[in-house]
Amino acid sequence: MNTFQAPKGTYDLLPPDSAVYLAVREAISAPLKNSGYGYIETPGFEDVELFARGVGESTDIVTKEMYTLTTKGGSELALRPEGTASVLRAALEANLHKAGNLPVKLWYSGSYYRYERPQKGRYRHFSQVGAEAIGAEDPALDAELIILADQAYRSLGLRGFRILLNSLGDKECRPVYREALQGFLRDLDLDDETRRRIEINPLRVLDDKRPDVRRQLTDAPKLRDYLCEACRAYHAEVRDLLTAAGVAYEDDERLVRGLDYYTRTTFEFVHDGLGAQSAVGGGGRYDGLSEMIGGPALPSVGWALGVDRTVLALEAEGITLQLPPATSVFAVPLGEEARRLLFGVVTELRRAGVAADFGYGGKGLKGAMKNANRSGARFTIVAGERDLAEGVAQVKDMESGEQKPVPLDALVADLTARLV
Ligand code: HAM
Repeated sequence: MNTFQAPKGTYDLLPPDSAVYLAVREAISAPLKNSGYGYIETPGFEDVELFARGVGESTDIVTKEMYTLTTKGGSELALRPEGTASVLRAALEANLHKAGNLPVKLWYSGSYYRYERPQKGRYRHFSQVGAEAIGAEDPALDAELIILADQAYRSLGLRGFRILLNSLGDKECRPVYREALQGFLRDLDLDDETRRRIEINPLRVLDDKRPDVRRQLTDAPKLRDYLCEACRAYHAEVRDLLTAAGVAYEDDERLVRGLDYYTRTTFEFVHDGLGAQSAVGGGGRYDGLSEMIGGPALPSVGWALGVDRTVLALEAEGITLQLPPATSVFAVPLGEEARRLLFGVVTELRRAGVAADFGYGGKGLKGAMKNANRSGARFTIVAGERDLAEGVAQVKDMESGEQKPVPLDALVADLTARLV
């Protein structure tokens, strides 16, 4: 029979590497939990229209990358390609914005799905930790989110990342700029698909990486010159707050992002050790999204950091996280009586809060000690018939190599005390 493999563009997370992913999720969420963000979980799939309207009909994500399906009942669903539209949908549905204390601050962690061409750092199933602050227009909120992401990356020891910052304007000034840009782009020598893009989403053309297109874009009108006074002042305040917090950023007026809902502040965290897929995280303000999906006006801002790419960034910088060993005590029974007795000791240790594991499967001393070593346990308990006859077990300190007999009825207390 054929064996099965993980689907193209996906991979399995297995121990011991999986512990690094857990630690990265924990490190990214810790500053959020500490700053008033509550945990939210939404379904892995949603009405396909939510993303079409929210993320944007003209984006690659919606036109090319969504996993869509029709249920037996005839509903059109899509596996979520991102989290923002879902989180806002859930907040609106539960009327969180009417509870009186805006902004509603939420964080999430989960799997996302995009039918992309797989390469290193770009997968069809990937993992994000994200944050959304819903219902407030305040430059300090934009700054808070950027500062918290910076803090999260730094807490992991990362140093090789840069923050790119831009403002995309609002519903007053962006349409004026859009029209000016379209006028400029229509006169260029471009292929048909790009010409179509000029009409649907001209800002995306600025993101084109091809050298011949880039060359023609040199004199393109700049959004910076079209920002209205309110957007200009807002952006200046975000920048000042970041600078005051000691968070370095680079102005990048070519930063457009791949989702349509952004207004004003946009930002991306890029890591220079990652090659083509250098964005480890990104986000921005989305003041119009709520109305786009049928809600009231709720100016909001958020980000999502990619867990997979953050792990790659750690590798690129040669950072090994100092993770505590999963097991503190490993018990090795030699013989039937010892098996029953030490299994009881392990159960008791676990109930006392000590991470303990057991040599299962009746292996001999050598095989069981190999498992004990591999577990990373600080102490090993070994007991055979002779030990039991004397009412003791041998406790070995795996760090010093020192071994001593401990009375059976004192084992739990002795080990608990030595582990604090
Ligand atoms: P995004 O830039 O599409 O934004 O994705 C955020 C991060 O998810 C990326 O920077 C990257 O690290 C990771 N990522 C995206 N696609 C893939 C992939 N195919 N393979 C591996 N990693 C990937 C959003 O998703 C927005 N919802 C962010 C946001 C929240 N904006 C406002 N609030």
